Amino acid sequence: MNDTVFVVDFGAQYAQLIARRVREAHVYSEIVPHTISADEVRAKAPSAIILSGGPKSVYADVAPSLDPAIYDLGIPILGICYGAQLMALQLGGHVANTGIGEYGRTTVTREGPSLLMAEWPLETTAWMSHGDAIAEAPASFVVTASSPEGPVAVMEDVERCLYATQFHPEVAHTERGQEMLSNFLHHVAGIPPTWTNTSIIEDQVAAIRRQVGDEKVLCALSGGVDSAVAAALVTKAVGTQLTCVFVDTGLMRKNEGDQIEETFVRQFGVDLVHVKAQDRFFDALEGVTDPEAKRKIIGELFIREFEAVARDLAEGDEGPKFLVQGTLYPDVIESGSGHAANIKSHHNVGGLPEDLSFELVEPLRLLFKDEVRRVGEELGLPAEIVWRQPFPGPGLGVRIIGEVTRERAEILRNADYVVVDEIRKAGLYRELWQSFAVLPAVRTVGVMGDGRTYAYPIVIRAVTSDDAMTADWARLPYDVIESIANRLIREVDGVNRVALDVTSKPPGTIEWE
Ligand code: XMP
Repeated sequence: MNDTVFVVDFGAQYAQLIARRVREAHVYSEIVPHTISADEVRAKAPSAIILSGGPKSVYADVAPSLDPAIYDLGIPILGICYGAQLMALQLGGHVANTGIGEYGRTTVTREGPSLLMAEWPLETTAWMSHGDAIAEAPASFVVTASSPEGPVAVMEDVERCLYATQFHPEVAHTERGQEMLSNFLHHVAGIPPTWTNTSIIEDQVAAIRRQVGDEKVLCALSGGVDSAVAAALVTKAVGTQLTCVFVDTGLMRKNEGDQIEETFVRQFGVDLVHVKAQDRFFDALEGVTDPEAKRKIIGELFIREFEAVARDLAEGDEGPKFLVQGTLYPDVIESGSGHAANIKSHHNVGGLPEDLSFELVEPLRLLFKDEVRRVGEELGLPAEIVWRQPFPGPGLGVRIIGEVTRERAEILRNADYVVVDEIRKAGLYRELWQSFAVLPAVRTVGVMGDGRTYAYPIVIRAVTSDDAMTADWARLPYDVIESIANRLIREVDGVNRVALDVTSKPPGTIEWE
C-alpha cells in the first residue's frame, strides 16, 4: 500500500483513535508496536510516522520506548503527548516530572510560524491530558506554541521533519486538531488524500478477485453490519460465485430475515440459502435457563446448521472453497498484540469451526467500524442495515431471562421493535450505542380495562458507549420513555408492565445475560 502512515502504539486506545483520524484525512494508517526497529521501518517505508499518546510516564520503570535510529530515517514524524515527551527526551530535551499536569481544555498560544498551525489564530483551545511535561525542547527544535503550565506545547525541527505536540489533536475537544493532523499529513509529509470510500472499494474488489479467482465463495449473513458489508463487497467483486447463508434462529430482530432477502436477493441478486431453523433452536433450548448453557446451545446449533448447508453445496463436484468473514481492523490488532482477546471469548456465535476447511476472505480486515458503515452506504446497502446498532450473536436468547420459548421470543421481538421504533422517531438511534427490550420471565399482576392481567414486564435498556467496554445508561427524555411504555402495553400482547434499566457498565453489563 502506498502512502501509509504508521501510528506507533504507546497505548492501544490512543493509537486507534489517531489511526482513525488519519483515515478521516483520507490517508491510510496502520498501527505498529513501539518495539518496531528502524530497519523494519526503513524496509516498509511509511510516508510518515505518528507517535501516539500513552498512559505511562516517560520516567516509569517499564516506560515503552522507541528505536532512536527511527528519528534519523528522514521520515516525517509527529509525536503526540507521550510520543512528544519521548521524542523530547530521546533527542536531548528535558521532560519535567513536576506533578503539575494539565488535564482538559487548555488555551494554547502560538509562539511562531508553523506549518502545523498555518491558519490558526494566536490562541486556540486544545485538550491536554498529561502529568509530565516537556520543560525544554531539544537544541535543534523551535518551540511554536505554549500553554499556561507548559512552555513547550508544540515544538518542531523543520530540517529533520520532526514535530511534537503536547496536546491531543485527535480528540474532538481540540478545536483545530483535525486541521493539525491534515496539515502534518498533506503539507509537512506531502501525502495526497487518496484513501476514500471509492478507493477502498476498488482496492478490496481487486483483492477479492485476485484471491478467489473463479472459485465459489460462501458467506454467513447475521443481520449485522459487518457481514452485510463484507457480503456486499464480495458481491461486487465476484457476485455470481457467491452463496450467502442466513440461519434464522427464531431469535432475530423483527423483519431481519425479510430485510436480508429484500437486500441481497432482490436488490443485489445474490444466491441466498435461507435456513428456517427456528423450531430446532426452540426445541434445543427447551427447559434451559442458564445463560452460558443457552449461549453454547445456540452457538453450536448455528454451526451445525451452517455446516449442513456447506456440505450440501459441496455435494456436487465444485463446492465453495472460500468463506467470507467480517473481521475488522481492531480485531486484527487485538489478536496481533495478544491482549484484550479474551474479552470476546463468549462472543463467538457466528464464529465457525476450524475443521471446515475453507480459505478465509476478509475484505474488512483493514477497516474501522465507521469506515465499514461508509463503505456499506456507498455500496448501496440500506441505511437500516448500515447504521444498525450491535446485536449479540445469540440474539434475543440472551435477552429473555429464564427459559427461551416461542411465545416469549415473539413477545420480546415485538417489544424490541416498539422500543427501537420510538427511539428512531425521537432521532436518538444513532447516538445510542444500543437500545432494546429485555424480557425477564417473571409475571406480575396488572389491571387493564375491567380485567386483571398476569403478564410479563419489559425492561427498556438504552446505553451510550464508545466501544462497549464501558457504558452509561442513556438519559432518555421522559416523553420518549412514556411513548415507549404506552405502546408496549397497548401493542404488545403479553406485556403489562414497563421498567427502565439505569445501570451503567460496570457494574452491569450491557446485555442482561
Ligand atoms: P456486554 O453485555 O458484555 O456486551 O456488556 C458488550 C457488547 O457485546 C455484545 N454481546 C455479544 N455479542 N455474542 C455477540 O456476538 C454474544 O454472546 C454477546 N454478548 C454480548 C453486546 O450486545 C454489547 O454490544
